[in-house]
Amino acid sequence: MSPEGEDPEAPTMDIKVKGAEGRPPVRLGLLLSGRGSNFLAIAESIRAGRLPSAEIAVVISNVADAPGLAKAREMGLHTKVLVSRGRKREEHDADVVACLRANRVDLVCLAGYMRLLSSQFVAAFPHRILNIHPSLLPAFPGLDAQEQAFNYGVKITGCTVHFVDEELDHGAIVVQRAIPVLDTDDAHSLAARILKEEHLAYTEAIARVVSGEYEIRGRLYVKAAS
Ligand code: GRF
Repeated sequence: MSPEGEDPEAPTMDIKVKGAEGRPPVRLGLLLSGRGSNFLAIAESIRAGRLPSAEIAVVISNVADAPGLAKAREMGLHTKVLVSRGRKREEHDADVVACLRANRVDLVCLAGYMRLLSSQFVAAFPHRILNIHPSLLPAFPGLDAQEQAFNYGVKITGCTVHFVDEELDHGAIVVQRAIPVLDTDDAHSLAARILKEEHLAYTEAIARVVSGEYEIRGRLYVKAAS
């Protein structure tokens, strides 16, 4: 679902969040299921001062032994395990939303979170959920996007950070980074090079969102008129 659909006349969403100048940092809620390299890249950007208007409020994993979760714990971040296996999506999502609210999260960042979100979850954080996907959307949504792109034979691919709506890999695009597919690539080397771009793209996208300088018009995420 695109909340404003495709209608160019749709009202502009004010998505300024409170990290803009002089305000407290935007509190991020990171959701992950596995390796956690995108989470680590975001954490490193905050540590290095590249995201001065953001802080990590909580790292939530639906998988108890996710390596990314272990790294978050090592870093002394606040973490929470909410196991999804065997639970109804709506019930699990309600617990995740409650945890995000309890931690006063402003912006949810899906970082390798291998779950589709229920409509209730999406509605709880309107235009406040980001996802990263390893292709240039709308091409190759879904699983194994890098392999899909490689097998299709595209010559350029990359990654996309977008707002989450109720359709898979679909919401307004915040940042894309493109790379060429090299003659020497296989699906594995291509995925590795895309991942490097993902780590840059997520920081760039969060910076853009917390700047308050962009707005959603229809499904476009564009610089706001000053
Ligand atoms: C990344 O390729 C991301 O684009 C996709 O899942 C993968 C997660 O990797 N959504 P990591 O856990 O952040 O290392």
